[in-house]
Parts: sequence; C-alpha cells; structure tokens
Amino acid sequence: MTLLRVDGLSKEFGGVHAVENLSFAVNPGTIHSIIGPNGAGKTTLFNLITGIYTPSSGRILFEDRDITAKRPFELARLGMSRTFQNLQVFFNMSALDNVMVGRHLHLDRRFIPSLFRLPSIVRADARARADCAELMRFVGLDRYVGAEAAQMPYGALKRLEIARALAAKPRLLLLDEPAAGLNATESREIDEVIKKVAATGVTVVLVEHDMKMVMGISDHILALDYGRKLAEGTPAEVGANAEVVAAYLGAEA
Ligand SMILES: Nc1ncnc2c1ncn2[C@@H]1O[C@H](COP(=O)(O)OP(=O)(O)O)[C@@H](O)[C@H]1O
Ligand SMILES: [Mg+2]
Repeated sequence: MTLLRVDGLSKEFGGVHAVENLSFAVNPGTIHSIIGPNGAGKTTLFNLITGIYTPSSGRILFEDRDITAKRPFELARLGMSRTFQNLQVFFNMSALDNVMVGRHLHLDRRFIPSLFRLPSIVRADARARADCAELMRFVGLDRYVGAEAAQMPYGALKRLEIARALAAKPRLLLLDEPAAGLNATESREIDEVIKKVAATGVTVVLVEHDMKMVMGISDHILALDYGRKLAEGTPAEVGANAEVVAAYLGAEA
C-alpha cells in the first residue's frame, strides 16, 4: 500500500500553472521531501493534498481512498495533519492550549455532557492536557509547558506547531518549511524532532530549503520546478541530477 498517491494533479490560478500534471507516491514510514525554488508549487501542492484548494484536475489518494474532494477537517479525521509555512500560533493563548487546539478533534465534545461538566468529560480533558504536555516535551519544549505562546521565541514556536500537528494523532504529517528562519542550531533541533516523529511510525512529507537537512534525513526526494516534476529519487540521485542543480543555481542568480 502507498500511504499517499498523487495522480496527474494540476492547479491553475488564472494563467499560472502552479502544479502541472504531477504524479508521485509516498510510502508509509518514510521521510519524503519536496524541494524546488520559490514559486515551484510546493505550498500549493500541500494545499491541494490537505483540501484547502480544489485541484483543476487529477486525483489524490490517501491509504488507497480517493480524497480529492474532501475538506480539511475530514482529512484531519482521516489521519492527515500539517504545519504552515507562516506561523499559525494563537498568541493570546498558552502554549499548551495551542497544542490542545490540535487535539480538539479527538475530544468528546457532546453538548449535554460538556454542559454539565460530567466527570467523564473532565477526565478526558485532563488526559488530553497531559498528552499535549507530553507532546511538548517530545518536541523539546519542556521549559515552555507552562508558558504563554506570546513569551516564546520564534524557534520554539516552530516546534510548538509540530506538537500541535501531532496532537491530532496523524499517520501523515506534512511540514511546510519547518526550519525557515531558524539558525543552524535550531535547524538541527528541528531535524532531530522530524527524525523522532518518523521513528514513531508517522510518515513525513517535508518541504524545506535547508538542503543539508533534506539530504541528511530524507528517504526520498521529489524536486519540482514550475509545478512540474524535475527529478525524484534518493538524496544521492537527486543531488547528482544536473537539472536540479541548474534549477537551484538559476534561482540563486
Ligand atoms: N492563491 C493563489 N492565487 C494565485 N496564485 C497563487 C496562489 N497560490 C500560489 N500561487 C502561485 O502559484 C505558484 C506556486 O506558488 P507556491 O505554491 O507558493 O510555491 P512554493 O511554495 O514552491 O514557493 C506561484 O507562481 C504563486 O504565485
Ligand atoms: Mg511555499
């Protein structure tokens, strides 16, 4: 079984082909990276996979089920979770409550029991808070378990978003530039977190510009340029691909 399959996927905005006739598959239990210059279509691809955008054409399958027309909340229930390229933190809430937002899907929120604060609900809530605090420690945020989100530095907030995505108990986690704006030390910490997540059996699809990180942790790399597949394979294969190197040098110039 492939965990995720993208089949002839296209997305147009006006005349712009953000994603064009793209096909690939992600095997379960792997770290699958997607690279490409700015504007290559990586975030659009994430938005298509997670149901934020509707494809112009093509199909998306998750665990062999066609999910092409599904909404983001349905996909979250099916076991898909993501982070965003730009921070999506609720700064008026505690760090722990930010993680609880991700967990919310799995809580029993039937109206009458929660109205009367029945013991079963109170217990479920306490359990969820303990789980979410544990997730914060898992991503290395031990010292921020009691903190307000607004007190946390940027690097810690990037990890908080990973904890929140994990709180939904996904089988597939999509990370859009988790190391963007981080220094070398913080990047290495994110690298460790991603490896730890993958070691728990969660499949990771990673969009990242930090090539050192991508080459070091990926099982498989897909390189995009102008919405199309430029190359794919192992890090060694993709790193040796002349077109990939040219696309990156072209983007730098
Ligand atoms: N909502 C949108 N409306 C119009 N154009 C968009 C939209 N989202 C992305 N694009 C365009 O699609 C292309 C791919 O963008 P994006 O997916 O953000 O690339 P990447 O994440 O690889 O940098 C760009 O040309 C971008 O301007
Ligand atoms: Mg992007």
